[in-house]
Amino acid sequence: MATINLKTPSGTSKILIQEGLFSEIGDLLKKDYPKSRFAIITDSNLESIYGKQLKEMFPGVLFLTIPAGETSKNFERVISLCEHLLKKEFTRADVLIGFGGGVITDIAGFVASIYMRGMKYIAVPTSLLGMVDAAIGGKTGIDFVAKNIIGTFYLAEQVLIDPGVLKSFEGPKKMPGMGEVIKYAAIIDKTLFDHFDPFELEPVIIKSAQAKVNVVEQDFRESGQRHILNYGHTFGHAIEAATDYQLTHDQAISIGMVLANKVAQNLGKQNKEVGDKIKSTLQQFGLPCDLPSDLQLNPLLEYMKKDKKRTGNIIHFVIVTDFGKTEILPMKPEELVKLAK
Ligand code: GLY
Repeated sequence: MATINLKTPSGTSKILIQEGLFSEIGDLLKKDYPKSRFAIITDSNLESIYGKQLKEMFPGVLFLTIPAGETSKNFERVISLCEHLLKKEFTRADVLIGFGGGVITDIAGFVASIYMRGMKYIAVPTSLLGMVDAAIGGKTGIDFVAKNIIGTFYLAEQVLIDPGVLKSFEGPKKMPGMGEVIKYAAIIDKTLFDHFDPFELEPVIIKSAQAKVNVVEQDFRESGQRHILNYGHTFGHAIEAATDYQLTHDQAISIGMVLANKVAQNLGKQNKEVGDKIKSTLQQFGLPCDLPSDLQLNPLLEYMKKDKKRTGNIIHFVIVTDFGKTEILPMKPEELVKLAK
């Protein structure tokens, strides 16, 4: 079992990664929280696969299923989840488990962070994206006008990762999350480029989780270094919004990384070989590297100006100057669009 401890001024989070861990989470959590009651938030798709087993592992659990998909991340859903917890007299000494992908861990973490000023929270990510990114590092949130506008920084006490859960997917080419893994390879740990074995995801997850932890430990509340995790995301988020979320997050940030590389090269800060390696790895995993034919760069401006990570009209734009080396540049959206051409 790989154990990674994330330590921040706001608390700690223990990340456990092991094939087969899913079947042990009941025993593990009952041992760690002997006096607590458990509630699980999951989605409708996962309930049909794992619901029975989860209810057996946690007898008497309050099982809360929400519709699968980003549209569940809203205030009405949060209120309804809190109402269920209150009706069953859950207190902050009880444990809320978010069992699912990024949508579930975002909303479950948010509910845990506000219910009675914060109850115990455990994340059990079931998607690669959740395992390497969303469930690690304490960001929680719901959508309000735009994505993740309302949220908190609230660490899961434990993040329990079973890479075996991913076997029900069709392999990494179809697995959302590889874009984030390639991001870590580019910005932090180039040895990840040598670990893309489609049949052996555990080392990829361990290295990616460690990469994220190293960044989050330096800057939990994203006031500096954590910005580097947004490599590819400035253009990526704009592309997601401009295409009305028809492209997946992975696809959008893949194009975003390629555009960020163009910016870096036009500024004379990145060798072409670096950009080429990142691009060919994205392509290897079936990720797009060009804007869709019906989308131009200029319309992205409007969305980049609404980027919640801007300061005034300035965006902290992340470029890769070499593998594992980044710079955060204060840039205007208009300059970025020009430099990405
Ligand atoms: N997903 C980026 C971050 O956690 O900061």
